[in-house]
Amino acid sequence: MSEPVNLYEAIGGEPTFRRIVGRFYEEVARDEILRPLYPEEDLGPAEERFRLFLMQYWGGPHTYSDQRGHPRLRMRHAPFKIGPIERDAWLRCIRIAVDEENLEEPYRQQLWAYLEMAAHSMMNSFV
Ligand code: HEM
Repeated sequence: MSEPVNLYEAIGGEPTFRRIVGRFYEEVARDEILRPLYPEEDLGPAEERFRLFLMQYWGGPHTYSDQRGHPRLRMRHAPFKIGPIERDAWLRCIRIAVDEENLEEPYRQQLWAYLEMAAHSMMNSFV
């Protein structure tokens, strides 16, 4: 077998991202802080956007940008107040999802470091 060329392939491609993001949204659906932020009653489309974004970011297909254009994630999060409480709630949910996947190192650490950094950078409020 040839070596994986990127993290997307190394951790198992789309099925792995599908499980992680699916698990994340199960947590979001019952989180009192996060759930009210999501404008749509059906979390399915939001789940798909996040999954496609992460797949693209880690070297998978570019479907996210084909459908949504440039990510501009800070701009897209501007309508939602994201302070330390929202950030920590988000990190709690994604942490559960990543941990349950039992990814191999160094991929687990790489993915986690990115998610933590990205969550901090998405903040747009001090409270
Ligand atoms: C969209 C909340 C962090 C990636 C959204 C939406 C909300 C939200 C409410 C709108 C749902 C929708 O798509 O309709 C939050 C909160 C965060 C956070 C509270 C806490 C820090 C992040 C991070 C990433 C991310 C760290 C990336 C690593 C996305 C993507 C979308 C999205 C890709 C869809 C953008 C699009 O419209 O194409 N987020 N988010 N989010 N979020 Fe976050």
